[in-house]
Amino acid sequence: MTAPTPGSVALITGGTGGFGRALAAKLKTLDVVPVLADLDSARNRQVAADLGCPFVVLDVTDRAANEAVVGQIEAEHGRLDVAFLNAGIAGFDSDALFDLESFLTVVDVDLFGVVYGAAAALPALQRAGGGAVVVTASLAGLSPMATDPGYSVAKGGAVAFVRSMAPRLAAENITITAICPGFADTAIIDPLREEFEEAGFPVLSADEVADAMLAAWTQGEAGAAYIVQPGIGAVPYRFKGVPSAKTATGEIAVVPEALRPPSMR
Ligand SMILES: NC(=O)c1ccc[n+]([C@@H]2O[C@H](COP(=O)([O-])OP(=O)(O)OC[C@H]3O[C@@H](n4cnc5c(N)ncnc54)[C@H](O)[C@@H]3O)[C@@H](O)[C@H]2O)c1
Repeated sequence: MTAPTPGSVALITGGTGGFGRALAAKLKTLDVVPVLADLDSARNRQVAADLGCPFVVLDVTDRAANEAVVGQIEAEHGRLDVAFLNAGIAGFDSDALFDLESFLTVVDVDLFGVVYGAAAALPALQRAGGGAVVVTASLAGLSPMATDPGYSVAKGGAVAFVRSMAPRLAAENITITAICPGFADTAIIDPLREEFEEAGFPVLSADEVADAMLAAWTQGEAGAAYIVQPGIGAVPYRFKGVPSAKTATGEIAVVPEALRPPSMR
């Protein structure tokens, strides 16, 4: 695996959660500076202190706060090389046929949190001469999740965001990728843990997911969405192509230039 350049600076949103901690520990062994951004709590500050990582307060749904955090990282560490946009929540448990509040809350954190994070990080990555954005999506972004439609929409939106942004970022030497883990052993699955254990259903370790996040940074293919599943590892999802339009004479229609980002014209 290509190792990251020692001294690189990484932002990890949701950095004190299960994946964030596992990734931060790995990055530290590679001489990368992981800056952990998370909601403000004594517990979160302590997690960062225990790992020996800088902590910054961030609610990813706050657009201005995302920009402030990136500014603070550049001011304190000189640069930003990679943004792991990883903060996320699951929807609330509810008996409602459709819980709109849950839907909106999840989309705000899991989709708009990613979009604001990327918008804030991109200028800093440009100033660094290039870099990477790695979005923690989910398997639920590639297949429907009937128990939590908001989560599925947010993660699916995050995958679509990554795929749509990739071509326009390539010219700036910025790679954007998504990772799509199945269920993994972190706090987010606490409400389901017993049922998984009883059913003998395999879950990923946070360490396995952190390996995939690291690989997505150092050797990820622009626009790729990496599925991470127990016993399989990280594999790029092969999207089935959408059938192309055909012209009146039956030939495949050529996409007009206006539909390509400026950097690809
Ligand atoms: N564990 C799984 O089964 C699993 C599977 C697929 C994807 N994911 C995704 O992985 C990511 C990391 O989750 P995890 O499994 O480490 O769970 P986790 O609950 O341990 O970590 C999530 C972190 O996000 C933070 N966070 C929540 N809302 C935030 C906000 N508004 N602003 C900033 N930080 C916020 C939390 O404080 C927490 O530290 C999430 O995006 C999650 O949806 C998890």
